[in-house]
Amino acid sequence: MDKLVIYGGKKLKGRVKVSGAKNVSLPILAASLLTREKVCLKDVPPLSDVYYMMKVLEKLGAQVYSAKDSINIKADTIRGEGPASDLVSRMRASFLTAGALLGRRGRVKISLPGGCSIGRRPIDLHLKGFRALGAKTEEACGYICITAEKLRGERIYLDFPSVGATENLMMAASKALGTTVIENAAEEPEIVDLANFLNALGAKISGAGTKVIRIEGVRELGGAVHTVIPDRIEAGTFMVAAAITRSKILLDNVILDHLKAVVAKLKEAGARLEEQPEGGVLVSGENCTLPLDIKTLPYPGFPTDMQAQFMALLTLAEGNSVITENIFENRFMHVSELNRMGANIRVEGSSAFLQGVKQLQGFPVRSTDLRAGAALVLAGLAARGCTEVLEVNHIDRGYYRIDEKLRQLGAEIHRVTMKEESEKEMTEATETAVPR
Ligand code: UD1
Repeated sequence: MDKLVIYGGKKLKGRVKVSGAKNVSLPILAASLLTREKVCLKDVPPLSDVYYMMKVLEKLGAQVYSAKDSINIKADTIRGEGPASDLVSRMRASFLTAGALLGRRGRVKISLPGGCSIGRRPIDLHLKGFRALGAKTEEACGYICITAEKLRGERIYLDFPSVGATENLMMAASKALGTTVIENAAEEPEIVDLANFLNALGAKISGAGTKVIRIEGVRELGGAVHTVIPDRIEAGTFMVAAAITRSKILLDNVILDHLKAVVAKLKEAGARLEEQPEGGVLVSGENCTLPLDIKTLPYPGFPTDMQAQFMALLTLAEGNSVITENIFENRFMHVSELNRMGANIRVEGSSAFLQGVKQLQGFPVRSTDLRAGAALVLAGLAARGCTEVLEVNHIDRGYYRIDEKLRQLGAEIHRVTMKEESEKEMTEATETAVPR
């Protein structure tokens, strides 16, 4: 697996473009299965998760091809009972094909996605919602079969505003008979973009972005061209990159409205963020040194997907901070790695208590999940000496060419591929073995 080698302490400057949102590209790719007509998606980032979702669609019989600036999908016919189990186990988001396939064909057999490193991540809310729409769910041998002779619109109350459950239910309900109302729905911008995409196909969804979403089922859906929204988590990560290196950078392709909680917290810590008249957002992190208290919450609260990056930032704050993780039960795996770099963080239950330190020290660290990996890269940018971030595959799932983009901003960061690494080891071993 590749690793990133970072020589920290460099100021960043210049501008960088944020890619399209991974977390909207995945549900929209899944939703493309709802229609026989051609779908053209723009600004989908070429990430490994996107690649796996494209494979899921292909294995289900869809024609999927990438053009210069778009991904095109035509799912004339659906093959097989559901997504391949090896792909579901690689990427949880492939469970989002359940709602689309149920809406399209009234049945799907899908392997249970299981937990992942950040938590148990059950699917009970998805299944409860499908059952409310009239589907039967049966579990056996690690698979779940979801079948419905006819899906019927219903009022569904989600016990928690789950992003994935809201998306799956919106997709299934788009083809149900009658009207579905999802109460306590997730309000994330990704939900709004998925609703916009489904409406472009001919669905009748209103209220996306609020707690109550109303979906009038339609008989058929058509084709559409859709551009996905910018990735708010990538944007937030670059904002923290400016803050942790006390630098000033310009970000293109950012919707600040999607980042209200992140922007509020950065400002509270001492950063300045200004939308530029000629476009872009200028992030000035020179004085971003104040400690913070942060609680992760469903949108519009502070995103759990930015918790690790802010943890990295607050290791260097002038004072004590507290971060409470309310969404996932096991999302502090970056703590031990940050402490290895000299941070002072103590975890008690769902809270992390940070005492700011003057300096982090470069160290070989391991990224355990996507955002934890991003946090270690950020810490490496600010640390003294050399940081090696191992298992970059986690980071590549959600950040398009993070090393290149940071290098463009002046960071000293490079990627060592496994091949280069093994060649280096071979050379070193040969040099030691052969006396000169
Ligand atoms: C999505 C995002 C992920 C983000 C998360 C929360 C994608 C591809 N991923 O994940 O990056 O961190 O939202 O903002 O968009 N839960 C249940 N039962 C369920 C479903 C969820 O208990 O049936 C729980 C989960 O275990 C978790 C919480 O609800 O504790 C939030 O999960 P959810 O909003 O569903 O997250 P995802 O859609 O998996």
